Amino acid sequence: MPHYHKSGQIPPKRHTQFRKPDGSLYAEQLVSTEGFSDAYSTTYHHYPPTLVRSVDPAIDVKPEIAVQNNMQHRSFQGFKVKPADDYMDSRVPVLVNNDLCIYLAAPRKSMERYFFKNSQGSEMIFVHEGSGTLKSMYGELKFGYGDHLIIPRGVIYQLEFDTPGNRLFIVESYTPIRFPKKYVNKLGQFEEHAPFCERDIRVPENLKTHDEKGDFMVMVKKGDQLFPYHYASHPFDVIGWDGYHYPYALSIHDFEPITGRIHQPPPVHQTFEGHNYVMCAFVPRLYDYHLLSIPVPYNHSNVDSDEVLYYVDGEFMSRKHVDRGQITLHPIGITHGPHPGTVEKSLGAKETKELAVMVDTFRPLWITKQAMEIEEPDYYKSWLE
Ligand SMILES: [Fe+2]
Repeated sequence: MPHYHKSGQIPPKRHTQFRKPDGSLYAEQLVSTEGFSDAYSTTYHHYPPTLVRSVDPAIDVKPEIAVQNNMQHRSFQGFKVKPADDYMDSRVPVLVNNDLCIYLAAPRKSMERYFFKNSQGSEMIFVHEGSGTLKSMYGELKFGYGDHLIIPRGVIYQLEFDTPGNRLFIVESYTPIRFPKKYVNKLGQFEEHAPFCERDIRVPENLKTHDEKGDFMVMVKKGDQLFPYHYASHPFDVIGWDGYHYPYALSIHDFEPITGRIHQPPPVHQTFEGHNYVMCAFVPRLYDYHLLSIPVPYNHSNVDSDEVLYYVDGEFMSRKHVDRGQITLHPIGITHGPHPGTVEKSLGAKETKELAVMVDTFRPLWITKQAMEIEEPDYYKSWLE
């Protein structure tokens, strides 16, 4: 959960008359979560955010599942996902269950024709390649290589890219994406031991108010369908807002690794969590410094979780060979561990340059048809000498 923030003009008292220079009223909108009981923001629009002109027929985007009951270690070449001009077309679902859906995307063009509102889930967009601006009614968030963009459910947004070369790893979460409970004190402030803190969280700035009427299309996603809604006012017509519900960014490069004399387990790398899953960031760091330490991880049984690793950059210490954008999936039910030769190779090493994002889900993931098209079929046998 991010912290209280305000931007632009707001009245001194909520739910009171707030007038434009011409004497007419601004339209107040409360954006609240878990009914009215969790994070919320109060926003002030030039026009009521309810002016629906028409709705076009829904577009089905339900992921097609190829493997429902996966009992095999898998690897997918993420950069084999073909780029697409349009952002929504570019989002390719690869792994999914009832808690989240993981997408890979290589969009070439900025969103100009429409806006997107995900009413099905919150999103974490990890920016592997490319840079640009996330625009919403809360303002602008500049992003670049290594950013996690957290977009709460229901935020209308547009992505503006600086160049056509973009690679995104996206988690669509059906419950709110939060900071790990263990990192925050009872007031919601980051604890001293957390690997990042308030100064590392970037919030929307440069609020631009679009006092515009016309025909504005918002693609609203719900129930694995896109509903093209046409509104009569610009979605970013906000003059000011305050609260706790807004998109924000955390760079993987601002994550301060926790190291030790002996191997530190994945929970020290955690960034976010939602219902039935956690996310982690593996970043360049010094290796373990006990004289007899083994820096690579031990063999381990994921008794309760499917483990998804998305390789970003650098040599990965426990794997023989990985490509940028590669995904490995180590499912519940099968033990996995370091590749042959990597244990010996790691002894005495001082540091690692690895950069990766991990998603551990507590319920099995289903594999989509598109994922099977980019699978490396023999990965599950890669532990044989
Ligand atoms: Fe693992």
